[in-house]
Amino acid sequence: MTADDTPASTFRYNEKPTYTTSSGAPIDNPSGWQRPGTIGPLLLQDFHLIDSLAHFDRERIPERVVHAKGAGAYGVFEVTHDISDLTSINMFDTVGKKTNCIARFSTVGGEKGSADTARDPRGFAIKFYTDEGNWDWVYNNTPVFFIRDPTNFPLFIHTQKRNPQTNLKDATMFWDYLSTHQESIHQVMTVFSDRGTPYSYRHMNGYSGHTHKWTKPDGSFVYTQVHLKTDQGNKTFTGEEAAKMSAENPDWNTQDLFEAIQKGDYPSWTVYVQVLTPEEAEKFRWNIFDLTKVWPQKDVPLRQFGKFTLNKNPENYFAEIEQVAFSPSHLVPGVEPSIDPVLQSRLFSYPDTHRHRLGTNYQQIPVNAPLKAFNPFQRDGAMAINGNYGANPNYPSSYRQLTYKTVKPTVTHESWSGAAVHELFQEVNDDDFVQAKGLWDVLGRTPGQQENFVSNVSGHLAAAHQDTRNRTYEMFSRVDKALGASIQEQTEKQVK
Ligand code: NDP
Ligand code: HEM
Repeated sequence: MTADDTPASTFRYNEKPTYTTSSGAPIDNPSGWQRPGTIGPLLLQDFHLIDSLAHFDRERIPERVVHAKGAGAYGVFEVTHDISDLTSINMFDTVGKKTNCIARFSTVGGEKGSADTARDPRGFAIKFYTDEGNWDWVYNNTPVFFIRDPTNFPLFIHTQKRNPQTNLKDATMFWDYLSTHQESIHQVMTVFSDRGTPYSYRHMNGYSGHTHKWTKPDGSFVYTQVHLKTDQGNKTFTGEEAAKMSAENPDWNTQDLFEAIQKGDYPSWTVYVQVLTPEEAEKFRWNIFDLTKVWPQKDVPLRQFGKFTLNKNPENYFAEIEQVAFSPSHLVPGVEPSIDPVLQSRLFSYPDTHRHRLGTNYQQIPVNAPLKAFNPFQRDGAMAINGNYGANPNYPSSYRQLTYKTVKPTVTHESWSGAAVHELFQEVNDDDFVQAKGLWDVLGRTPGQQENFVSNVSGHLAAAHQDTRNRTYEMFSRVDKALGASIQEQTEKQVK
């Protein structure tokens, strides 16, 4: 994008709208202000000035508590292969069917003004406007996550943010948490590989991470994991390149996405699903509700079924991207959450934070509004802007018949009964290091990737306290002895 073709400089309308106050009264000069005489004090009657200042004072809404920095665009999902044997999800029912959507990509830990190229997982969220309601895929670019106990989310996130006293990012906090919650190791391996610093949002994959259930009207279901693989190819920055870009252009990923779409170079992803029947899941080597584990692809192959393309930039960032509100609980008939406890807790957390960040009627904001919704029992509240269901009764009235469509929940597979407990998912054990070692071996397939990993960790870990460093070396030794030793050697060289 050159200076001459930025959206601001090419903004031309044939019509010339008449400038008014927010209440619609014409105003001759947006810079004018009322006073008696030539310089006298301001007049309270100057609605235009007072209203402008008061509105400006309220321009900021709370930023997302995580994933605050992001960029997004509109697109389309197309079914490319028949998967009607797996599910009755309406959006997938015909090959060639297209569904409009909006996507938002983000970093996780940084504030709204932070650098796009920080080492972090990337959020990969899509809202599909389906004929049966909005279906949100609130995914990341990593197939696993740091936690499997939902209670750990705020604790973990605090350690990746700022120290409460210094207000600085703190390597000791960061590694202290990770080395004392070693179920994180698989995700640590992923994020400290070069995939933790993607070249752009277009050049990274997306993963559901969690197991979901895809269901059929007869009550049968399969367990699934969704993968979106970038058609642009995975491309990453080295740690050094990412740090340089953070300083030179902290908005690089935002700019890259906008410009690619603006010039018609539409990014796309091929969409796959991994499938396990309930019977297979029971015998599976891995606990499918453990978010720190993947389903190895040689055991559970990827089945291709769709293509996702981004083809339109937002007209207004705040209205369409800042206000977009995703939730793993925005589901449609044919898909159900699994009992993965992290997923279960997310079902609560997102609408809760939206009510705080955007207000109780967040679903009415145009970018969040489903194609059709009819819920006249949910009424009023701040910013009820959709007509508030007019004269429709606000209870199930015998004078206003509604159609209720049967959506049968699946026959449960998981056993729900048992005494209430207050425990961890499971204690960390050697099994937690097997897939981390698997990834270490995957890195070994590409020359330089293992060396970059050691350099990425050691450059960060060197700023942590000695006890924390030692515990972290032990953690990496459980992945691979030589890895632990080389991280120790490289890190200690850099300790100041
Ligand atoms: P496979 O050999 O079948 O696949 C390896 C996977 O690793 C590919 O999906 C590849 O993605 C991905 N990959 C390559 N480099 C990296 C990296 N630096 N960081 C993260 N992922 C990378 O292996 P398995 O299925 O047996 O899994 C081996 C390891 O690969 C796992 O322990 C896991 O860490 C990682 N992995 C596994 C995934 C899964 O769902 N099974 C998904 C992603 C990663 P691509 O093909 O796009 O290059
Ligand atoms: C954003 C909570 C785990 C993906 C958020 C937000 C919250 C949150 C509160 C801010 C939402 C907003 O203000 O709009 C949690 C909790 C988790 C968890 C409590 C675990 C207990 C995960 C996991 C993934 C994920 C495992 C991916 C698999 C995302 C994405 C966003 C996000 C993509 C950004 C959405 C957007 O672009 O608006 N999360 N999260 N989160 N989360 Fe999570």
